Amino acid sequence: MPTISLATRPVRLLVRGMTRPLVLYHVSDIHFGAEDRAAHDWFAAEVARERPDAVICTGDVTMRGTRREFDAAAQWLGGLAAPVRVEPGNHDMPYYHHMLARLTRTFERFDAMQRAVEVVIDLPGVALVPLRTVTAAQWRLNWSKGRIAPAALDHALARLAAAEGHAVRIALCHHPLVEADTEGTASTRGGKQALAALARGGAQIVLSGHVHDPFDITLRPDGLPIRMIGAGTLSQRLRSTPPSYNRLTIAGGQVTVDLRLAKE
Ligand SMILES: [Fe+2]
Repeated sequence: MPTISLATRPVRLLVRGMTRPLVLYHVSDIHFGAEDRAAHDWFAAEVARERPDAVICTGDVTMRGTRREFDAAAQWLGGLAAPVRVEPGNHDMPYYHHMLARLTRTFERFDAMQRAVEVVIDLPGVALVPLRTVTAAQWRLNWSKGRIAPAALDHALARLAAAEGHAVRIALCHHPLVEADTEGTASTRGGKQALAALARGGAQIVLSGHVHDPFDITLRPDGLPIRMIGAGTLSQRLRSTPPSYNRLTIAGGQVTVDLRLAKE
């Protein structure tokens, strides 16, 4: 008699007229080139166990933007047992000593990796709106910090306006738009104004990475609430928190966040 194997995916009950909860795993700063292999294995096992509706990675998939690091990132992200959405971080472009490539082919390798790992994700009632905070060069010494180009904000606001029918609208950034009381800083130029504009545009949440420590705070620019959720890191470059990711549950327009820490 054939053996019937039960699917490992948890069964989600659907009641007519009711949408099932969505589960998103928010991860960031996986930094191939300085990755924590044990943390990567742990996260991949978590994804395989629960099979979330999507994994969202808010940037810094590499250390120096090399082909080798991007190949490793593509293999790992592409091998996760869930659809993946990935945004670039300040480490995901050619390093400073390849200045010509940095300025002229800034996201060429990132874009190729993104095309290789992403598929169209259908998240009913949820809109994901990217807002790029990384630029190849800036008028200040530290180019690792965030900067919102006016065109990037215009683009995000247009996407947000088009997503009006979605109950939950989530902006995806690499740098926190304003500081979230973490050890590391983002110093995002134009971030405060961008956060207010996103709130006015109807975004309820901004996901980010970069500072390698998780947070979940609600701010009220112009009196409108907007929640900033930061993911930690799965790299060796730890700050105050062990390797971690955020588990988001979206149900009835409400978003719950659980911080998941790797056991060290
Ligand atoms: Fe970063």
